[in-house]
Amino acid sequence: MTTCYINGNYKPLSKSSISITDRGFQFSDGVYEVIAIYNDKFVDLKLHLNRLKTSLNKIDIKINLTLSQIEKISQKIKKLNNLSMGIIYIQITRGNQNPRDHKYTNDLKPNIIIYSLKKDFKKLDKLALKGVKTSLYPDIRWLRSDIKSISLLGNVLAANYAKKNKSHEAVLYDHNNNVTEGNSSSIWMIKKNICYTHPLSYRILKGCTRNKLISILKSHKFKFEEKKFSIKSLISADEVFMTSATNFIMPIIKIDKYQISNGKPGTFTKSLREEFIKAI
Ligand code: PDD
Repeated sequence: MTTCYINGNYKPLSKSSISITDRGFQFSDGVYEVIAIYNDKFVDLKLHLNRLKTSLNKIDIKINLTLSQIEKISQKIKKLNNLSMGIIYIQITRGNQNPRDHKYTNDLKPNIIIYSLKKDFKKLDKLALKGVKTSLYPDIRWLRSDIKSISLLGNVLAANYAKKNKSHEAVLYDHNNNVTEGNSSSIWMIKKNICYTHPLSYRILKGCTRNKLISILKSHKFKFEEKKFSIKSLISADEVFMTSATNFIMPIIKIDKYQISNGKPGTFTKSLREEFIKAI
């Protein structure tokens, strides 16, 4: 039985429910976070909590919990669910509103849920030894991908296109054929010993794993540039990988029919994954 925090109470997940008048349900009017727990430790907890605050501010949702209270609840959920490998899911919506109206009133009480899911990260460690295949898909999402919004239909369509093609992830590209990010990850390439990823803008999420990796790259004095790159450039890269809370650093060895280098995870990508896990 999984225990869920729901608006101040701890309840079995199966008995936790929110009204159908919830604006998250009717308008996707809310934000979320996914935080990994690996070998009993939270991964980049502070980065995720700060991003949650930023997302809330960006859509003007005010909550009566502090980040340190959310941290304490997350720790309690981890403990109650006896979680040593998995994720903590946090979702905050603007609250219930009846009658339905696109325009929100200022007296709404946000719905806050926090629960956990087990995840077999050791299986992912094995997958990382082989690397993954990905599929290209147009970035059809709205223009504020910097907000970690629960409105994920564009991501869902991309992810399921990838699934149909037996791919681990969809690599999204904009109208200029430049790569933006993955359906739920940041995308990177290494070319002539320089590491590239899309610059921060409204078009991508500021990934916490991306953030952490940038510090690792800087501390190793590895050349790194936040710069747009095209699909053409990506498929001819020396190494390609994706980063996210649920994949850490995952080598990409194929993009549709294009094999990356020799079709094996790149040496540098492998060592970055090791560094990342060491730093948890
Ligand atoms: N997604 N870009 C998108 C669109 C994402 O959904 C995610 C993460 C990332 C990587 O961010 P981070 O390194 O902070 O996880 C980039 C999570 C894992 C999800 O939606 O399940």
